[in-house]
Amino acid sequence: MSERVLITGGYGFVGSHLADAYLEQGYSVRVLDNLDPTVHGSSNKAPTYLSKDVEFIRGDIRDTDTLVASLKDVSIVSHHAAAVSVVQSMSNPSRFAEVNTLGTARLLELLTDRNRFPIRKLIVPSSMSIYGEGLYQAGGNEVTPHLRSKEQLESKSWEILSNGEVCQPVHTPETKPSRPTSIYAITKHDQEEMALAIGEASGIPTIALRYFNIYGPRQSLCNPYTGVAAIFSSRLLNGNPPVVFEDGGQLRDFVHVSDIVQANILATINDSIDQGVYNIGSGNPVSILEVAERLIRLFEFHGEPSITQTARPGDIRHCYADISKAAKELGYRPKAIFNDSLKELIGWVSTQTATDNFDAAYKKLNLTG
Ligand SMILES: NC(=O)c1ccc[n+]([C@@H]2O[C@H](COP(=O)([O-])OP(=O)(O)OC[C@H]3O[C@@H](n4cnc5c(N)ncnc54)[C@H](O)[C@@H]3O)[C@@H](O)[C@H]2O)c1
Repeated sequence: MSERVLITGGYGFVGSHLADAYLEQGYSVRVLDNLDPTVHGSSNKAPTYLSKDVEFIRGDIRDTDTLVASLKDVSIVSHHAAAVSVVQSMSNPSRFAEVNTLGTARLLELLTDRNRFPIRKLIVPSSMSIYGEGLYQAGGNEVTPHLRSKEQLESKSWEILSNGEVCQPVHTPETKPSRPTSIYAITKHDQEEMALAIGEASGIPTIALRYFNIYGPRQSLCNPYTGVAAIFSSRLLNGNPPVVFEDGGQLRDFVHVSDIVQANILATINDSIDQGVYNIGSGNPVSILEVAERLIRLFEFHGEPSITQTARPGDIRHCYADISKAAKELGYRPKAIFNDSLKELIGWVSTQTATDNFDAAYKKLNLTG
């Protein structure tokens, strides 16, 4: 009989691609998801993209009875249900703490009963947001900076400074101390630490995958706070230019969802690692302005990005992944080519009805600069 995997949040962007991949690999797949309206819109209907072979339990990760039913005969738990948004988490900290921290705690509490739920592997998605700023160098030394001050941002000086010198960003390894700067990041940090602690204490092989900026088809287009590629695409689809904060020079690591899937499958099949934390990115820094410009070209939009020269509170300047640990220990090799994958993304976006909720969200921001 095939092994059963439970994917919490399996109707979401990442979870749904994982469901496809696990089925393809011969696993039985069960999805637990509450079809959160902030992700799936208010229609209350399940998206049509999941295979009929997926068993669906509609329910909330915080509900113990639902979790007990979901965990029956499961050998792998892929815990992807979460409230996902840095910006929203700052105005709704209790929802984020409940879903991400308490929801994970409820799941872990059940998993400590190894006789009742003898799972073989727990995979938890963590996030690059737990680092805060990425790693930098100045004068030959490593620098792990705090956020830029309000005064600095008001003077439109965007780069990280150390003793007046501009620090150079470098690839961020897992060893960089975490310095979460939003409620979302704090809850992701909690989730990772709790899963590793319970995993260690209860003998559950547990792997935390720190995802960088994921893009690809099925990313929510109705949420103005999720991935930048999806937000820019929704804007362009509605005839509006992408809005780029600061000067657009912020460096990020865009990783295609197929590479995220690759990392999860590798983590699932690897039986030699009992505990581990891995950066999962592309390893290639790309500026936000470049993403906007590439999408403008691909959409054949006649216009320029709107560069605000203002900073969003809590935003970091640069962070991109050092993926050498995942390469060495998991055999992870990102394969997606950025421009080709953006083309695929806009092909998908063009088949969707995307509401551009950006302007309303933008008005709520307290901008610096
Ligand atoms: N997308 C990214 O760039 C990114 C980056 C780093 C980490 N992550 C992490 O990866 C995971 C998946 O992210 P995603 O982008 O697929 O998000 P998503 O919002 O597309 O999917 C999350 C899914 O969880 C479900 N959900 C939310 N609250 C729930 C609850 N209380 N009970 C049951 N289900 C619930 C939603 O309905 C949704 O289907 C999350 O844990 C997120 O923190 C994502």
